[in-house]
Amino acid sequence: MVQFPGLEGVVAAETAISLVDGQQGMLIYRGHWAKDLAVYNSFEEVAYLLWYGKFPSANEYEAFITKFKKYRVLGVEEKKVLESLPLQLDVMSALRTVISSMSHTFTAWPPTVDDAIRITAMAPTIIANLNRRNEGVEFVEPHPDLNHVANYLYMLKGEIPQKAHVAAMNAYAILTMEHGMNASTFSSRVVVSTQSDIVSAICAAIGAMKGPLHGGAPSEVMTMLNGIGSKENAEQWMREHLEKGNRLMGFGHRIYKTRDPRAEALKTVTGRLASEDPWLDLAVYVEELAIKILEEYKPGRRLYTNVEFFAAAVLRSVEMPSTLFTPTFTSSRLVGWTAHILEQSQNNRIYRPQSEYVGEMPI
Ligand code: ACO
Repeated sequence: MVQFPGLEGVVAAETAISLVDGQQGMLIYRGHWAKDLAVYNSFEEVAYLLWYGKFPSANEYEAFITKFKKYRVLGVEEKKVLESLPLQLDVMSALRTVISSMSHTFTAWPPTVDDAIRITAMAPTIIANLNRRNEGVEFVEPHPDLNHVANYLYMLKGEIPQKAHVAAMNAYAILTMEHGMNASTFSSRVVVSTQSDIVSAICAAIGAMKGPLHGGAPSEVMTMLNGIGSKENAEQWMREHLEKGNRLMGFGHRIYKTRDPRAEALKTVTGRLASEDPWLDLAVYVEELAIKILEEYKPGRRLYTNVEFFAAAVLRSVEMPSTLFTPTFTSSRLVGWTAHILEQSQNNRIYRPQSEYVGEMPI
């Protein structure tokens, strides 16, 4: 019998990048609470922390930002590949293909932080412009004065985003950057453990993320909140929904049996925006009421808001198209993947688990 199906519970590597503790609701990035980083730091600062293991000095940060801005501009060749892709191709496959086509321009082995910055910096430009192409509108170049997150929103719409939207997306991006040895991160570590290149490892991770069991979109939460529609309607809607045996989307989690720390942090940001956006105001209201109602209908099950609930609220408030939910999640998770790729390459042992043969034997 297989002792650990799906490798559940198996510790396959030591890591200093993050700690995910589902019982206590803890998410720590290199010794710092992710929930605090999401509110008080920029995407670039937290990326630096995950890659280098420390915060940058003022000079280091300036040089880092200069690189980030330089690398987010696509070259002629990359644009040609992007333009040549079939319009029917989904954004995740298209992103994987554009990145893959640049493999010859990256270090063969070992991967470097420079490689990590480059892939992370260019991904939003690729995603935003794939979307623009699908919408039949012109390519938008990155804005030199905007940071990573603000620039992504700018490229999507072609206009300078509101500060409040940038703050909410910044928190979302930081909280989805890293989450331990999940399927996509593990895939990237397996590939790089063969001393293959960083681009191959990232393409494998994008492939894993694309599956609905992993990179699933918070669109069902949106459908639920749209169905509720107003504060006045919320209680009756939720009770009727639960009485029919349905689940409230965005509540409950397999690992977190207390509040999901990512949901907590996103709620802080969403709360600040709520006065400006009635939809966010509704989300905050529904959350509090739902937790009480769930305790009434499912006592003792410890059902709290998961990350998908407020992710939906944030993505909806910045008018992100639902086709870009998983690619947007991917663009921030690139930081975690590349941090793990660097860590794996620095202390490498090829992954080689075993399988148990249950087939026929020769007679
Ligand atoms: N609404 C109502 N009841 C719920 C909910 C919910 N959202 N979640 C769990 N329950 C109930 C179940 O009906 C079950 O009740 P029972 O004991 O009377 O049978 C009990 O709580 C335990 O449920 P399980 O499915 O065994 O819990 P598990 O930890 O395996 O499931 C899951 C976790 C799949 C996330 C679940 O809570 C759920 O379906 N939530 C709604 C969908 C959702 O929000 N998904 C996003 C998850 S976040 C992420 O994947 C990154």
